[in-house]
Amino acid sequence: MTLDMSWQELEERCRACDKCSLGKTKTNTVFGVGNKKAKLMFVGEAPGESEDMQGIPFVGAAGKLFDKYLSAVGISRDEVYIANILKCRPPKNRDPEPEEEEACIGFLREQTKLINPSIIVCLGRVSAKRLIKEDFRITKEHGIWFKKGAFRMCAVYHPSALLRDFSKREETLRDMLEIKRAYSQL
Ligand code: URA
Repeated sequence: MTLDMSWQELEERCRACDKCSLGKTKTNTVFGVGNKKAKLMFVGEAPGESEDMQGIPFVGAAGKLFDKYLSAVGISRDEVYIANILKCRPPKNRDPEPEEEEACIGFLREQTKLINPSIIVCLGRVSAKRLIKEDFRITKEHGIWFKKGAFRMCAVYHPSALLRDFSKREETLRDMLEIKRAYSQL
């Protein structure tokens, strides 16, 4: 099976998924976008309203702010891969339920296997708790590197948190600069 076939099958399975109830309320599946050979992958929480409308991750207000951080540190959106823990929007943007994460995480696992990035950056607490460690504390542990199998991982504040709390913006820029430094050294 070619790499492209695997991607196609995975995306088709994801779009047809009915393992949790979110498929009934979503407008679009938000599978993921970007470079399928990316060395750097970002993983957010779940699609919001704009993402659900457009079928693309991080295109709403939080996504626009995230784009500013990427360009501030000299990373282009096209060179990385961007996905979420959940591929369907939870109604009213509530936190994902554990059963929803469990039902959906296999798609992210397969995406990660196909991409095989060196660095995975969690955008926010939900992603960090799921991918780095269950007791992850975003206020204390953002910007800290963890090694998980073959991956270097870290988390930054979720861009939505930065929309609400300007005091976190400077430390996030520092974290993003450190991510860029590690990425440049690959
Ligand atoms: N928040 C997320 O976690 N992911 C998106 O795609 C958009 C907002």
